[in-house]
Amino acid sequence: MGAELFFPGRDPARPFELEIGSGKGTFLVQEAAARRDTDFLGIEYAGEFFRYAADRLRRNGMDNVRLLYMDAMELVRHWLPDGCLRVVHLYFSDPWPKSRHHKRRVVQMESLREFHRVLQPRGELHLVTDHPELWAWYEEHVAKVTDLFERRAFERPQSAGEGEVVGTNFERKYRREGRPFHAMTLVRRGA
Ligand SMILES: C[S@@+](CC[C@H](N)C(=O)[O-])C[C@H]1O[C@@H](n2cnc3c(N)ncnc32)[C@H](O)[C@@H]1O
Repeated sequence: MGAELFFPGRDPARPFELEIGSGKGTFLVQEAAARRDTDFLGIEYAGEFFRYAADRLRRNGMDNVRLLYMDAMELVRHWLPDGCLRVVHLYFSDPWPKSRHHKRRVVQMESLREFHRVLQPRGELHLVTDHPELWAWYEEHVAKVTDLFERRAFERPQSAGEGEVVGTNFERKYRREGRPFHAMTLVRRGA
């Protein structure tokens, strides 16, 4: 279950991956074209970006991608069954720098526990950011869930271009500004 909600009739054994905050859909378009044997779900709660990405995916005729217009944590908490995902991709997530907005960051103790629940055994959470303070937040939270995840070096996806970490729109924009990037992979522990 899980992928069948979005790809009815598909072979349930096909890998299923989620991108949270897919923005203009650059990663989805590139990666879904490079890996046609995998189904991707993108989720985006900003209407303008959602419409842009949905139109782009339609024009590219991608049949292994679906896009949802909603809050990612609503989906993860209430719709996704246990163990349905191979990878959760979270790239250049909004840093919400003011302390009173930290609760809006996608990575929280609760969301890490939910990602652990919806990932299959040895499934992965991929985190990339340019933002030093958000990176410190990731490090701090990840250090508290070593019973749930094992940390690994990040491996570039198949579709990343020459010299890119992952190749999203924000990465390309920030690269032109010369910002450094941080990346990690968390591998789900347990059966
Ligand atoms: C800084 S942009 C990065 C977009 C894209 N990942 C990239 O690297 O080009 C972050 C995106 O995540 C979306 N977003 C943030 N929190 C979200 C959530 N809880 N659910 C869905 N989308 C979210 C924002 O609307 C925004 O489009």
